[in-house]
Amino acid sequence: MYTKEDLQRLVRYQIGNHRLIIVSNRQPYQHQLVDGQIRMVIPSGGLTAALDPMMQACGGTWIAHGGGTGDRLVVESGNRVMVPPDDPSYALRLLWLTEEEERGYYYGFSNQALWPLCHNAYTEPVFDSGDWETYRAVNQLFAREVLDEIGDEPAVVLTQDYHLALLPRLLREAGADIVSGQFWHIPWPTPEVFRICPWQDEILDGLLGNDLLGFHIDEHTGNFMDTVQAGLDPQINRNFGLINYRGTSTRVRPFPISVDFESICQEAQSQEVEDEMERLAEEMGLDGMLVGMGIDRIDYTKGIPHRIRAIGRFLEEHPEYLGRMVFVQAGVVSRSDIDAYQQLSEQLDETVDEINSRFSQGAWRPIIYLPNDLPSVTLMALRRLSQFCVVSSLHDGMNLVAKEYVASRFDEDGVLILSPFTGAALELTEALIVNPYAVEEFAEAIHDALTMPRHERRARMIHMRAVVRENNLYKWAARLLLELIQGAPRVGAKSERPLLSSGR
Ligand code: G6P
Repeated sequence: MYTKEDLQRLVRYQIGNHRLIIVSNRQPYQHQLVDGQIRMVIPSGGLTAALDPMMQACGGTWIAHGGGTGDRLVVESGNRVMVPPDDPSYALRLLWLTEEEERGYYYGFSNQALWPLCHNAYTEPVFDSGDWETYRAVNQLFAREVLDEIGDEPAVVLTQDYHLALLPRLLREAGADIVSGQFWHIPWPTPEVFRICPWQDEILDGLLGNDLLGFHIDEHTGNFMDTVQAGLDPQINRNFGLINYRGTSTRVRPFPISVDFESICQEAQSQEVEDEMERLAEEMGLDGMLVGMGIDRIDYTKGIPHRIRAIGRFLEEHPEYLGRMVFVQAGVVSRSDIDAYQQLSEQLDETVDEINSRFSQGAWRPIIYLPNDLPSVTLMALRRLSQFCVVSSLHDGMNLVAKEYVASRFDEDGVLILSPFTGAALELTEALIVNPYAVEEFAEAIHDALTMPRHERRARMIHMRAVVRENNLYKWAARLLLELIQGAPRVGAKSERPLLSSGR
């Protein structure tokens, strides 16, 4: 198993005298002002969940948008703050955006154009030229911030995700001594889909400013190559995953992202979680119940109404479970300024009400919906209390909820019901894989999960745990960094200044 220490050694000896910089829209530790008090919030979402442990291991600087109402109050000079607060190990540098910039770049082009464009969830992308101009301008702001951070020093810059597609080209054009990699955390669609974007060429050109571009799985890598082939006039060597364009080359590779298996596994065994399990069982009336659960950002790509409908169908088909099974859906409100997200939230309330009023008996309701940001100890307790966990995404780059569930089940029990349209389904083959659109099959998968014998649950969970333990987050980070370094011979091996230090 690849460990945190292995990753630290790799960074210390291989990155040489280069600074390590991560750039993303979302920051890993957000500060909110609540009733005059500063409250730290850990944002949900795969990106920060995966990259924070990596940065804690490696040190360096993470540049992100300071979107919290209390962020300006916690930063020191240079808009920097050391994080995590209880064990500072790297520097977070925040960049400020006006409301208008955030509206056009984040709520607009990133999440109403690129997000639906890259996910096959049948929400039409909105291509607004004002949003696009703001997206370009904000990518320039991020570029200035990175260049200011590194000054004359050589740096390895790892850009994250679809919010910053134009950044790598801007960095390259600035002529700084940067080795540039980017990880795209969401799917990449086929050329037929991507070509509807009026600014496809600029986006592809921006991404080809990277030395290395990573996706979760082969399918996204292949789709990206096809899109570039159809849109620009590059030279592509598919055997080597290489695109030559405008005189430089970009390597394109799959790196399936993962979780910090050991730390999740340990957290799941804590006394705090045991106590929380007792509290929840009592408060929610879960004692003696069969429990299913889901944890999601409230997003139309996650197939949440589909799973609620499948529970309804399951109860129709198997009325013997009335009064015996509870499904707990935890949700994190997300991007709620966007119409499609508000509509989803209303639709979810209605669907849950409908199923609950159809099947409830006395005080018993089949679905407990908790659309509020729950603390991590509560989520962990729910994972442990459940007989099964449902991940029913209509399309998802990887989906770390599935891997977190597996990592938390140190008791080698619990069944994972998983959509085939997630990257995770390629690795977690011992899950019950079911198409979320096929309501009858979905309902039967719930029945299968509840009737699966203990020895089969155990065999499947052991298999999945071995996969996630082996392909953990540190291995993902190491593969990404190694690939970046090896393809960039100008990064000196072993220097006198190890990069374990935290920022400047
Ligand atoms: C997806 C994206 C991430 C993002 C996360 C949460 O996983 O790939 O980049 O951080 O959603 O979304 P948010 O809009 O809240 O940052």
